[in-house]
Amino acid sequence: MQTLDCIRQRRSIRRFLDKDVPDNIIIKALNAGLHAPSSRDCQPWHFVVVREKQIRKKLADIKGEDNIKPIMSAPVVVIVCVDIDASPSRWIEDGVCATENLLLAAYDLGLGSVYITGSKQSKPEIAAAIQKILGLPSKVMPVTILPLGYPHPKEQLQAKELRALDEVLHLEGW
Ligand SMILES: Cc1cc2nc3c(=O)[nH]c(=O)nc-3n(C[C@H](O)[C@H](O)[C@H](O)COP(=O)(O)O)c2cc1C
Repeated sequence: MQTLDCIRQRRSIRRFLDKDVPDNIIIKALNAGLHAPSSRDCQPWHFVVVREKQIRKKLADIKGEDNIKPIMSAPVVVIVCVDIDASPSRWIEDGVCATENLLLAAYDLGLGSVYITGSKQSKPEIAAAIQKILGLPSKVMPVTILPLGYPHPKEQLQAKELRALDEVLHLEGW
C-alpha cells in the first residue's frame, strides 16, 4: 500500500471479528513502532501485548463505557508505554509517535485499531491503575491502549468531513 493511501484511508475501528491475529502480524506492526521518531532518538518505548481476556476486562473497566467494546472485542491489545527515565520531558510525544506508526502499520496489514488514551494529566489515577494491572515499573508510563483485530464488517463509520486545507494553511505566518 502506498503511504499516502494508508494515511488517507485509515479510520478508527472499535468493533472486531472474533478471529485471532497471528503473532507474526503483531510483530510486524510493533516493528513499525520502533521506527518512530523520538526526542534525541532515545527510543524510550515498551510494548505490552495482552491477549488474556481477564486482563483486557480490567483495562476496559478502567477506561470506561466507550472503550469497553473495542478493548473486549479485539483479540489483542497493545499498550504503548514509555520509560520516563529515558525521556523525562518528552515521553508523551515519543509514545504518541510510536502509536501513530502502529496505527498506520495495522491498517496496512489489514487490521483495525483505535487510539485510546493511557495517560491523562488531569486523571493520573488512570495511568496508575494501568501500571498496577500490567505490573509496570513506576518509571514506565502507559501512553496509549491500542486494540488490534480484523475489522468487523458491521462497523458503521460515519463519513469523515475533513477541514479544508485553506482553512488551516497560513503562508509565511498566521
Ligand atoms: C488523543 C486521542 C484520544 C483518543 N481517545 C479515544 C478514546 O478514548 N476512545 C475512542 O474510541 N477513540 C479515541 N480516539 C480516537 C478518535 O476518536 C478518532 O481518531 C477521531 O474520532 C477521528 O476518527 P478517525 O480515527 O476514524 O479518523 C482518540 C484519538 C486521539 C488522537
